[in-house]
Amino acid sequence: PAATKPVVLMAEKLAPSTLEVFGDEVEIRTVDGTDRAALLDAVGGADALLVRSATQVDAEVFGAAKQLTVVGRAGVGLDNVDVPAATAAGVMVVNAPVSNIVSAAEHALALLLATARHIPQADASLRAGKWERSKLSGVEIQGKTVGVIGLGKIGQLFASRIAAFGTHVIAYDPYLPQARATQLGIELVELDELLRRSDMMTIHLPKTPETQGLIGKEALARTKPGVIIVNAARGGLVDEDALAEAVRSGHVAGAGVDVFVTEPTTSSPLFELPQVTVTPHLGASTAEAQDRAGTDVAHSVLAGLRGDFVPDA
Ligand code: MLT
Repeated sequence: PAATKPVVLMAEKLAPSTLEVFGDEVEIRTVDGTDRAALLDAVGGADALLVRSATQVDAEVFGAAKQLTVVGRAGVGLDNVDVPAATAAGVMVVNAPVSNIVSAAEHALALLLATARHIPQADASLRAGKWERSKLSGVEIQGKTVGVIGLGKIGQLFASRIAAFGTHVIAYDPYLPQARATQLGIELVELDELLRRSDMMTIHLPKTPETQGLIGKEALARTKPGVIIVNAARGGLVDEDALAEAVRSGHVAGAGVDVFVTEPTTSSPLFELPQVTVTPHLGASTAEAQDRAGTDVAHSVLAGLRGDFVPDA
């Protein structure tokens, strides 16, 4: 009898190129990862589980798994995968750490530009039959001090792009050696100084217990009046309620926000504020990034199933 193929359970929609990498080496099954009962049932027969960011892969999932070898996260952030629980269950976790970094940096840039020039309000106003030029006057990026919180892969890509606008880039990153920052031509500062000096700032950190709420009420109070803030990293790194309050008071001039504490969501205090540009977690949603995320993670999952060495992030 023919040897049975390993079962790869796809719990979220991934780019079609993902399937091409798997070819006929595996049996592909699908399930809606947000349907908890269905996921727990289906994972029992899976050798590999593939997710994006909507599926919570926790101890309960590992408990329901009987032959799981590898979890593949088609993206960067691992905050929806309980890695210690995976390790305890003897399951390997792989991600696609560079797949969408350019898309994420470009989206943060798009949010900054859109907010600085009131693009969403202008678009809505014109479509509503109004020609409002003075009300929609914005600010230039050139000459501004731009603060980047977190100078990892995405933060660095953002920094090099925004530098081309003729800005002065400062950054806070406790893990980046000064020599590397100097090489990048970026002034490394403490978080407090970044908050105080930035005309515009963007955050590029993973979600961890340390980073959650990092930019809350107190940090916002220390920012420069008129600052524009971008968060295309993770919901809650910038506290949504505190940000809404700071925008309402006029201290923060505007914000571009792609990520929310609860996702999916259709309600946030930020949605009522015209100074805030919002998008539904679209940072990685480009054809190129999804293609890379799917194919990169499929290669790593196949390697994991074969027992080969999986390249590290
Ligand atoms: C990521 O961590 O890679 C992004 O949030 C994109 C995604 O949700 O897939």
